[in-house]
Parts: sequence; structure tokens; C-alpha cells
Amino acid sequence: MRLTDDEKAMLDGKEGPARSKAMDLLVRYGEALGAERLIDTNNVCLAIGMSGPFIRDFAVKTGSLDAAFSEFSLDSSEVVEIPEVKVFTCHLIQGLDPDHWEIQGVDRSVYELHMKGLSFATRIGVQLMNTCAPYLVGNVPVKGEHCAWMESSAVIYANSVLGARMNCEGRESVAAASLTGKIPYWGYHLDENRLGTHLVEVEYDVESILDWNLLGYYVGELVQEKVPVLQGVRRLPNLARLKHCGAAAASSGGVELYHIVGITPEARSTKEAFGGKKPVATLKFGKREREIAYDNLNSSAKETAVDFVMLGCPHYSIEQIWEVCKLLKDRRIHGNTNLWIFTPRALKEIADRNGYTDIITRAGAILMTDTCPALAHVMPKGTRVAATDSGKQAHYLPAILGIQTWFGATRDCIEAAITGQWRGELS
Ligand code: F3S
Repeated sequence: MRLTDDEKAMLDGKEGPARSKAMDLLVRYGEALGAERLIDTNNVCLAIGMSGPFIRDFAVKTGSLDAAFSEFSLDSSEVVEIPEVKVFTCHLIQGLDPDHWEIQGVDRSVYELHMKGLSFATRIGVQLMNTCAPYLVGNVPVKGEHCAWMESSAVIYANSVLGARMNCEGRESVAAASLTGKIPYWGYHLDENRLGTHLVEVEYDVESILDWNLLGYYVGELVQEKVPVLQGVRRLPNLARLKHCGAAAASSGGVELYHIVGITPEARSTKEAFGGKKPVATLKFGKREREIAYDNLNSSAKETAVDFVMLGCPHYSIEQIWEVCKLLKDRRIHGNTNLWIFTPRALKEIADRNGYTDIITRAGAILMTDTCPALAHVMPKGTRVAATDSGKQAHYLPAILGIQTWFGATRDCIEAAITGQWRGELS
């Protein structure tokens, strides 16, 4: 790999041992990927949360968060003191909500270590956005901006909707990027890899958030890690719809970038999306394909009594909280059912101010921040059957937490929370 003078200086330790370890990691990683060089980045989204079991045990054993960061984020058994990050760096989702950790069933010792982790992150200059949707709360990269982000739903949103450039990175590479301002130049950083591969003729008139989940889920499963180009979308989707579409496509497949002709920034025309080349295959998404995706997402669920309704995957926008409050107002959720809604902390502040948190609380539900059930393994005790309006969460809850999960429209999820019964169907 070709290194610039400043990269070589960092590698040689001129900026201290931590940046040298970070540069060493990036060089090893980049060479394994076949990258010829690194690219500058000033936008990193990472996760150094201390509540995961391995890192937690390690941090307790060593008593040092520098040691935990060295081991788990820099792949270094030698403990180095971690300096301030070099570039703008945000924290993604964490393992618990500091305001609701007891309700989430988290031990006090885990909570306390988590809080030490937050202090560590702020000491090294990481912005505690604590969300999987940083683009909702101020980290909105511009078209062409090279970033180093983890979290598949955030990466696909930023690549596809914003036209930023990134790959779905891992914990170690983003940590190294935060200390160096560099990331290997490969994959979706390069023009040629951003061109469409598969054409998807969208024949169904996708409109609702449910539709966009189903479209993303269906297409992701078929194209896996390729770049689909959606053609024929007649109604302009908003942020929430595109958020759900991407998250679903990144779950059923490994899609990191998609284009929608006439809507997303690198697809002003079908020709531009494919760079003048022919698609390797043409698929369609019509009424039948929509039904198949719905059935697949509901394949784990049998029992209709619902214990737990989860909304906010990816974290809800304020518009989605507003919509839910209209459905919940002056109603109360069923005594055997929990409704947890997840949003970034910065948006909860707006929800508090607008009276939405009160509406949610009066209904017997909880507005949570910082975490999510699938990632942190937090859910109401004894949950056997869940319901969600997120294709991504419906994909992961049965696999990760072994619970039956219904997927459906937000309205159907709220009705399940109110009645304790799943009665959703595809209309
Ligand atoms: Fe976010 Fe958790 Fe969903 S990390 S995208 S809410 S699975």
C-alpha cells in the first residue's frame, strides 16, 4: 500500500503509540482488501460501548478502558494510552438506555461500567449521539464525502440517499480512522463500484413505510451484496421510508448502496445509475413480490397474543413519533403488553418539549433512547411474542433473541399494543 508522508510519520510513531497502532491496523486491513492507498476522512461513526459481555469482562479484569480500547478497537495486546480523536467522530447505538436500564433488565454493575465507557468516550472527544441514525441528529455527510461508519442501516442511508462514500466498517477500522483521519480507499469509495448491477422494475405503487420495508427486504434478499437500481417509483418517498427501505435491504442481503431513478443523487437517469452499462439481471417488485416479502417477514410468528411491541428500528424520526402519538392519544396499552419506542436522545428532547413523551407515558408505553432490543438484547422480561413495523427488527429478533415476531404497519403494531393481540394483515 502506498502511504503519504504524514501516514508514514504516524505509522513510525511520530504522533504517539496509539496513532501508530491505528495506522498499522489500517495498513494491514487495507492490504488484506487489496486497497492501494488510504483516503482522508473527517467523519467517523464508531461504537466503543463497554456493555457487551467480552469487553465488559475484559474491562473489569484489567480495570482499564485504555486497555479495553487497545485490545478490542485497535487489535493491540500492548496497552496504549488513547489520545483525543483526530477527526469528527460520533458514537453509534449503545448497549442500554441510561434512563431505563432497570426496566431493560440490565445489572447495576453493567450500567456503571457503561457510564464509565461514556466518560471515556467524551474524554477522547467522541460525540455521544448514541443512535444508529446519526443523520437524524446532525451528522449528515454531503455528496461525495468519504466517511468511515459502522452500522449497516446508517451506511446504506448515507451512501444511497445522501451520496456520501463509505463501506460498512467494523469496530477496529473505525476506531483506527478516528485516531488517524484515514480509511482504506476501496469498495464504495471508488466510482466504479457505485454503479448499479441489478435493475428492479417497481410495478407496485409503493407508498407506506410498510411498502418500503417490503421493497427493501425483497430486493436485498435477491441481490445480496450487489447494487440494485429501483426504476418506476411514482411517489416521492420521505426520509423515514428510505430509512426503512435501506435497513431492510441491508438485513435480508448485504446491500450497502441502492439507487432510485429520478430520486437518489447518483441516479438522475437509469443510464447514469448503471454508468451506461447493462444490468446483470432485471427483477420486478409487484403485488405478488410484496406478498412474498410480507410472508417471509412473518414466518416466525404463530401465536397472536403479543407481549412486546417495538418501534424505532432504525431509531424513529420525530415525524414518526408524532404519527404514533396521533394513534396513541387518549388510549392505554394492554396490561400484558409492553410498548417501547426508540429514538435518538436529541429527538427525545424535542418529544419532551412537544408533549409527545407525555402522551406515550400516559398510554403506558416508554420512549427510550441510546439502544435497541436486537443489538443490546434488552426486552421486557418473559417476552415470547413481539411485533414491530421494522423489517430489520423483524428479521433479527427471531434469530438473535429467539422470539416470535410479527411484522406489519405502524397502525397494526399500535393496535396490537392496545389490544394485546396481533390482527395485522397486508391490505
Ligand atoms: Fe438501529 Fe437496532 Fe435497528 S441498531 S437499525 S434499532 S437493529
